[in-house]
Amino acid sequence: MAAIINGKEIAAKVKAEVAAEVAKLKEMGHNPGLAVVLVGDNPASRVYVNNKKKDCEEVGFASYEYALPAETTEAELLELIAKLNADAGVNGILVQLPLPKHICEQTILHAISSAKDVDAFHPENVGRIMIGDYSFLPCTPAGVIEMLDSIGCDINGKHCVVIGRSNIVGKPMGMLLLHRNGTVTICHSRTADLAEQTRQADILVAAVGKADFVTADMVKPGAVVIDVGMNRNAQGKLCGDVAYDEVEKVASAITPVPGGVGPMTRAILMRNTLTAAKEQLK
Ligand code: GUN
Repeated sequence: MAAIINGKEIAAKVKAEVAAEVAKLKEMGHNPGLAVVLVGDNPASRVYVNNKKKDCEEVGFASYEYALPAETTEAELLELIAKLNADAGVNGILVQLPLPKHICEQTILHAISSAKDVDAFHPENVGRIMIGDYSFLPCTPAGVIEMLDSIGCDINGKHCVVIGRSNIVGKPMGMLLLHRNGTVTICHSRTADLAEQTRQADILVAAVGKADFVTADMVKPGAVVIDVGMNRNAQGKLCGDVAYDEVEKVASAITPVPGGVGPMTRAILMRNTLTAAKEQLK
């Protein structure tokens, strides 16, 4: 039976560290804050935005929510971002994805000041991550590294297999594992004999977006399995990409869904907002 990597517990520790630092900034007369922009009424996005507001309250950040109608034009959204970029009371800006189809995500993400880009999606920040000279790390991959560290999993020299090549998770995840001297394979929908690849993994990260995608026969006995998936099964229950009940019998450690990577992503967002605030106050 695998050890369960408790994301909620590790996230609580990260948030407590952030809260202590925020309290110090407040004592110095600062009021650091995060602006969260939501366009349209995607119910999942609404839940994520509400959670971010809760996290801000918990660690002591001011949170500024901008909930805009689905018909908002790209020009209007750019105008809001320009305003937030110029607002000294806003230290971090997060535009919740996905955006409505008529708005170009790239245009919007490029418009956010790289100093306030707490998602680390701006090309300048993406480039800085590539060369290992960064202020912010993307929240989900950084959360995964934190979880591996928390169980004393040494990435150095390990074979790490990431399933998924998104800009948000798969690609930066591969890069962070590489920075820690992992030997990294990034698999995707065109990978030939995926199971053959995943069975080589000492550390397996699933970021696919399909419930029960990773089955026990795809996992090397003793592997550490990290589940980034956030899916709803046929019964509407939240579940990951990993067939948990069978994989936990093979893995040495595994993250649950819910209560695994999700809370860590949110905690790292708080840490990134703190980093942004401190750098802007320098
Ligand atoms: N939508 C799903 N995940 C994310 C994320 O990490 N950041 C933003 N801005 N939107 C998302």
